[in-house]
Amino acid sequence: MTDPVGDQYQGYPYPARDPADEAKRLVRGSPSRWVEIQHYVFAGRRDPAAPFRALVAGGGTGDGAIMLAQELAERSGPGEVIHLDPSAAAAAVAVARAEARGLRNLRFHQGSLLELGGLGAFDYIDCCGVLHHLADPAAGLSALAAALAPGGGIGLMVYGALGRTGVYPAQAALRLLAGPGVPAPARLETARAFLADLPPTNWLRRNPHLHDHLQGGDAGLFDLLLHARDRAYTVPAVQDLLAQAGLRARAFIEPVRYDPLTYLADPALRARAAALSASDQASLAELIAGNLRKHIVYAVRAETDSGPARPAGPGTVLVLRDGDGPALGRGLAGGGRLKVDLDGIGLRVAVDAAGARLLTLLDGRRSLGDVRQLLAGDALGEAFAFQAACDRLYAALGPLNLLLVARAG
Ligand SMILES: C[S@@+](CC[C@H](N)C(=O)[O-])C[C@H]1O[C@@H](n2cnc3c(N)ncnc32)[C@H](O)[C@@H]1O
Repeated sequence: MTDPVGDQYQGYPYPARDPADEAKRLVRGSPSRWVEIQHYVFAGRRDPAAPFRALVAGGGTGDGAIMLAQELAERSGPGEVIHLDPSAAAAAVAVARAEARGLRNLRFHQGSLLELGGLGAFDYIDCCGVLHHLADPAAGLSALAAALAPGGGIGLMVYGALGRTGVYPAQAALRLLAGPGVPAPARLETARAFLADLPPTNWLRRNPHLHDHLQGGDAGLFDLLLHARDRAYTVPAVQDLLAQAGLRARAFIEPVRYDPLTYLADPALRARAAALSASDQASLAELIAGNLRKHIVYAVRAETDSGPARPAGPGTVLVLRDGDGPALGRGLAGGGRLKVDLDGIGLRVAVDAAGARLLTLLDGRRSLGDVRQLLAGDALGEAFAFQAACDRLYAALGPLNLLLVARAG
């Protein structure tokens, strides 16, 4: 019997990518930014130049594998990324992208993540947008967990139930209008006509958080509304999936979205929310926000007991995930507020004068020891003031997934 999911990704490799675009830009996103792996999986303590092996399970047309291989190629130390996917058509796009970039640290393996035997152990496994398409996602995640090297971790993305409001009724409607027995091009045509006719009351039409059916071409439309197998998860369902595989969440991305205090102003509500367990807080945040269309989570083995990353120690580097620290620091000179948009929820995050000053010195390479030396003779260079300023800056930007901790290389 042929697998309908396999047929789909052979016919419509996802996401649609043109290898020629590699000359113009690198597609970056979570999970699997190198700095995020260092921070969330290894708590900022791993030697960044140590040998590193990663698996991108269900790598598709290559976004995660290309990004990670490119970022690893730019550091010192040996590293290897294996792209695994059953779809030869998807892998062909990823191969062409790797060739366009001249990447030599990326290998390709055609197959299923359910059969990893022979590929060895991995320090890190990316599985982005794959588990929710498997017949048995828990078995898939257990297979991945079994391939982790000691101390390793996984970066996952699965669909979020609330943020996909409207998707599943639309999928059901399209199965009635043009089900899986109808040839794919005719199903796409039906889906386009259906979208054009949706009344303003339809939940898919009213959901502003979904774009694939409008901007993702045939592959995006097929993936969102005509998928052969697809389910979505609430936060407790993600926790459950992880627990079944012997894993636990280190962080949901961006952490600020999973904190109910981000959304609640009323003091009594804040006090009640703050008294909940960490997993209930994340669950409450999802229920309040309503806009989490996917859950990105970094997970480690349940028994891994290294504490969280800390913005402390002379050999630690504070890395601004995106953008230019010095430019941001200059923009916030004297203290200011950073505007952040969480898909329709606006935040203004305060950065004080000392934090802005620190930012001007964070170039992604300087260790905290170096930064403090540059501040010698300055009140901020005093040990206590320096650490307190680092802690406050990290408390402001860490939850946004903007300021991350790595070890100096
Ligand atoms: C939605 S795409 C995601 C691609 C990529 N991870 C990304 O985020 O751009 C899902 C991919 O999972 C692959 N896939 C489906 N079943 C799989 C399995 N059992 N093992 C590995 N990959 C699988 C599909 O072929 C497809 O390329």
